[in-house]
Amino acid sequence: MKKTAKMAALMLALAMMTTTLAACGNSADSKGSTATDTTVSNSQDNGTAETSTQEAENTLTFGTNAEFPPFEFVAGSGVIDQYDGIDIAIAKQIAERNGMTPAIENMEFDSLLVALQNGQIDAAIAGMTVIEERKEEADFSIPYYTATQVMIVKEDSEIASAADMADKKICVIQGYTGEICVKDMGYPYESFKKGTDAIMELVNGKCDVVVLDSATSQKYIEENEGLKIVEDAEAFESEEYAIAVKKGNTELLDKINTVIDAMLTDGTVAELGAKYTEQLSAD
Ligand code: ARG
Repeated sequence: MKKTAKMAALMLALAMMTTTLAACGNSADSKGSTATDTTVSNSQDNGTAETSTQEAENTLTFGTNAEFPPFEFVAGSGVIDQYDGIDIAIAKQIAERNGMTPAIENMEFDSLLVALQNGQIDAAIAGMTVIEERKEEADFSIPYYTATQVMIVKEDSEIASAADMADKKICVIQGYTGEICVKDMGYPYESFKKGTDAIMELVNGKCDVVVLDSATSQKYIEENEGLKIVEDAEAFESEEYAIAVKKGNTELLDKINTVIDAMLTDGTVAELGAKYTEQLSAD
């Protein structure tokens, strides 16, 4: 299952296509603008020494939930403070390419959209799938990554499709699209605060299957012996990750989109995807 670079390239290709599907049949229609001729404007005023008050104003604060490798996790030394991962590296570039200082606020995944609304954070970058319900609460950038839900099971599990979960004990993570999918399928489930908690439950034989995003699941099966991934492309549609801003904050959204567009075009996003999946495989 070492798909790494190839997978990242595929994900990129998918992300650049205009197909925008949401988990489990909820339709979302984010404007899939293909990366074309937009260039990063170089108009940031660089070179001037900033006073500390200016610095505070010049900080771009991203909210995340650093429980979602390879997109965001806590590391010994990360890209922004102790935070590392694909999203954190993207956040850093968005801030820096706009002449701003990046900052991270780590919080529960469920709190991110509220934190946007009350101004605690400027943007949320958290492997967040664009879905209709969320589009009512926030505005989303162009997508930068395509994922899908998968099932993590024990190596000897008989589960081979989503339908096989019917009489099994299912674990999901609270507020994630995986939870929405399982709920939509009408199966009972138990939800956990963190991916690692659900995985522990599976490892300890207290649940039969964890439904979770593909790249994060890959990371968990590499870290835990005796687990495997089961895919069911018919049951789980592709999902697109994008950055959320407060509704109506088009000024920031434009800045974010310009950088994402450039990073998709010049291959930076694909490189980051490969880097962080390889890094995790090597662990
Ligand atoms: N993609 C899923 C969703 O949007 C899971 C995201 C979890 N992200 C995180 N940073 N914990 O619901």
